[in-house]
Amino acid sequence: MRKKILAANWKMNLSFVEAQAWLSQFKSSNTTKNLVDFQLYAPSLYLQSLAQQEVLTVGAQNVHPKESGAFTGELSISQLKSVGASSVLIGHSERRQYFQESNFFLKEKVDACCQQDYAFIFCCGEDLETRRAGAHLNFITDQLQASLLHLEPAKLSLLTIAYEPIWAIGTGETADTTQINEVHAHIRQLLESTFGEKGAEVSILYGGSVNASNAQSIFACPDVDGGLIGGASLNAQSFIELAHCFK
Ligand code: 13P
Repeated sequence: MRKKILAANWKMNLSFVEAQAWLSQFKSSNTTKNLVDFQLYAPSLYLQSLAQQEVLTVGAQNVHPKESGAFTGELSISQLKSVGASSVLIGHSERRQYFQESNFFLKEKVDACCQQDYAFIFCCGEDLETRRAGAHLNFITDQLQASLLHLEPAKLSLLTIAYEPIWAIGTGETADTTQINEVHAHIRQLLESTFGEKGAEVSILYGGSVNASNAQSIFACPDVDGGLIGGASLNAQSFIELAHCFK
């Protein structure tokens, strides 16, 4: 059974005080964990504090593939583990775009996670130009082939995939369900042709301007197993509400 996941990506938002208030609100809501697997990707500075509870998984928005060493400003998987963060985002389009993270570098991160049995969400998605050219499926295939599809089937339980079309991130423009279905089915087919039956167990999330008014139709798509939520996750209440949009 694939897991239903609702993951908040706060990006570089919220002060520490606001983050603590968000968590208290989340904890005091009637949300039960069994509705969906809640995950929170918070600024690294807050991870240790936020991870001290049982109601949601806390993860980092970035990690360096090396174990330790002279990489000023970076964090390793062991360091994340040591403060209770149990998952990480890899390949978010903002890391690819603003920090020039290449497919090869992302492959190193994937390998590091697999070596250390560390869970990760691998993000992929095309820009507007690629979409307009009708080349989005090939583009996504290339991203996955270059960084991800080499992993050993035994490590697939660590993996969640997020499809996030760049043109839909933070723009208020959501991909429609036909577009989402097409890409998710394509990713699923790639996983199954690479990994066989085990590929069917990987959860695939959609991300890009998901909110309470569009989540129900998005989460009803057959190959959508949840969402990676930016803007609508900054308020605990609006994030929690999304859990009720699963059928
Ligand atoms: P928005 O929900 O703000 O569009 O962000 C999506 C995203 O990038 C999550 O990783």
